[in-house]
Amino acid sequence: MDCMQGLDSEVKEGGANMSVGQRQLLCMARALLRATRILVLVGGGGAGEGGGGGSYDEEAPAVIEAARPPKGWPSQGAISVQGLTVRYRPELDPVLKELSFEVSPREKVGVCGRTGCGKSTLMMTLYRLVEPCGGRILIDGLDIGAMGLLDLRSRLSLVPQDPVIFSGSVRSNLDPFGQAGGDADIWEAIKRAGLEDMIKGLDKGLDSEVKEGGANMSVGQRQLLCMARALLRATRILVLDEATSNVDNSTDSLIQRTIRTAFKDCTVLTIADRLHTIVDSDRILVLDAGTLAEFDTPAALMRNPSSHFRGLVEEVIHGGGGAADVVADAFASATGYRLE
Ligand SMILES: Nc1ncnc2c1ncn2[C@@H]1O[C@H](COP(=O)(O)OP(=O)(O)O)[C@@H](O)[C@H]1O
Ligand SMILES: [Mg+2]
Repeated sequence: MDCMQGLDSEVKEGGANMSVGQRQLLCMARALLRATRILVLVGGGGAGEGGGGGSYDEEAPAVIEAARPPKGWPSQGAISVQGLTVRYRPELDPVLKELSFEVSPREKVGVCGRTGCGKSTLMMTLYRLVEPCGGRILIDGLDIGAMGLLDLRSRLSLVPQDPVIFSGSVRSNLDPFGQAGGDADIWEAIKRAGLEDMIKGLDKGLDSEVKEGGANMSVGQRQLLCMARALLRATRILVLDEATSNVDNSTDSLIQRTIRTAFKDCTVLTIADRLHTIVDSDRILVLDAGTLAEFDTPAALMRNPSSHFRGLVEEVIHGGGGAADVVADAFASATGYRLE
């Protein structure tokens, strides 16, 4: 099965390390940027190659006139997840199981848990790349399942694990529909995202070509470019799925700094594989096999010797490496003693 079908065959080979859902996400991002109005997601995640193996689910309409969110929605950025249950196919067990939690406006929430616990699925459900089979998600009190997909997706910003960059100029990647006020606005967003030096270092500034797949940019830089796009669109909610491939330390800390400064008035969910990137979140949500294990401040979770989070922290510290120091420092300041 391949979600690239019917979209764009020029997308680079190399999805081997991506989940099917992740590939769907990338397909979706591409479709959005190209203003596609109808997208068919190939349902199911099995290996059935071509030949009618998969079922084809048509997506919800882009716009539902009777359920359009008001202009400026979401103005606060409050997220309420209520009894959310998600499965990829009817015969499979749910991947998210009656998940309920509330995120306050402007809150910075780190989402963690072991590989396969459902972090990316949660992100995809927020963007409705997967539809829940139970429960719902409200954003500023509106049920996101009731509105059209374009109305939803144009009001959220999503930074995938390995963003697809289009061949074209920096400008067309940041402002594909020419909706920004002008170059000054684009530069402002670039500056706030911390990419000014990099873009200025390119031969033609905003007119510089970025290569298909972003070959001349690192994964972290591509994520920052997505963040600059989000700043330009001034969305209230940012969801960032941390890059799984190694991001160099300076880009890593640039991403964290951008979240704290440029996105300080936004609600940010950071899905983290590396704990040190979320130890200073307002709260940390720990998923365990699709259920909510913990949702509390990092300090409270670290002080609790039996928390899941503390277990994950101890694994990082005992594992050594550069990140261990950052996590150990955060642990020490939360608990008053240092784990060795
Ligand atoms: N398209 C899919 N079809 C079937 N199962 C899937 C699909 N995508 C993910 N899964 C399964 O759902 C579970 C959660 O995956 P995921 O949300 O990617 O976890 P995480 O991001 O926490 O590593 C895993 O068991 C994964 O194998
Ligand atoms: Mg994931």
